Amino acid sequence: MPALLQARGLSKRYPGVEAVKGIDLALEQGVCLGLLGPNGAGKTTTVEMLEGIVTPSGGTILYRGKATGPGFRQEAGIMFQQTSLQDYIRVEEALRLFASFYRRTRPLEELIRRCALEEFLRRDVRHLSGGQRQRLLLAIALVNDPEILFLDEPTTGLDPQSRRNFWDLIDSIKGEGKTVLLTTHYMEEAHALCDRVAIMDHGRIVTAGTPRELLRRHFDSAVITLPQQQLPPSLADRLPFPVHRVEGQAEILSDDLDRDLRLLLDHGVSLHHLQVRSRTLEDLFLELTGRQLRG
Ligand SMILES: Nc1ncnc2c1ncn2[C@@H]1O[C@H](COP(=O)(O)OP(=O)(O)O)[C@@H](O)[C@H]1O
Ligand SMILES: [Mg+2]
Repeated sequence: MPALLQARGLSKRYPGVEAVKGIDLALEQGVCLGLLGPNGAGKTTTVEMLEGIVTPSGGTILYRGKATGPGFRQEAGIMFQQTSLQDYIRVEEALRLFASFYRRTRPLEELIRRCALEEFLRRDVRHLSGGQRQRLLLAIALVNDPEILFLDEPTTGLDPQSRRNFWDLIDSIKGEGKTVLLTTHYMEEAHALCDRVAIMDHGRIVTAGTPRELLRRHFDSAVITLPQQQLPPSLADRLPFPVHRVEGQAEILSDDLDRDLRLLLDHGVSLHHLQVRSRTLEDLFLELTGRQLRG
């Protein structure tokens, strides 16, 4: 199937900084693609080029096989990383204002219910909580019933509960068959929502695929974790594999659990409080870039 939105060799130079260095991206219809990377990776620049807001320095962008023109805005829904809403305006007024910009709109009552805005419809937009504000901004992005939705770090700064509520909302929108491009620096968000992810760093895509594919391609090991005091350096030094010290825990990367657990027992290490976990996209990012995603 040809991609709904396709970018080839997309680049953006600002004076003194190459924000995006020639990336290829394909977004298939109905897919949620996550663009992952730390601050400054080039996510917003990439998304804004795809939206038609930032002019690329190089490369091509095709929507349904054709160059995106001014009409693209009617079909796209955009939730910016930073949006200023007019002061003193109420939630309901903000929705109506944005709806007036489009030829075709989604019924507002349905949108209000969908994004759970009922309780604060008459509130001044300056007095919304973080989660309420993001739900309003999502409703605004959906007001023209877009085919394709761009969400730039929609949950950054939200508390865990609001983040989860927002995920449920995105999930239900995905259920309508919408195509979504989402940027985030939360790996668990990408895991929860995205069918495919592209990991970006320093203006380049360092790896891309489904979350499962990426983990399988890059890792076939698990992480064993023990309380540090059960593995003091005197003991760790005698083990045939390295022991990493991470936040008060001793961590061992294992590609053979049977063997390594037996080795620990043979060396007199207590397995009390032992945990084994699969490696995550967060680990992958660290491995590929040498940096912590949120750091
Ligand atoms: N308008 C701009 N002018 C100059 N530099 C910019 C501009 N927008 C972004 N940059 C730079 O481009 C790089 C990528 O930024 P951005 O796309 O915002 O990354 P991200 O969204 O991943 O945090 C950063 O080094 C940033 O400082
Ligand atoms: Mg950004």
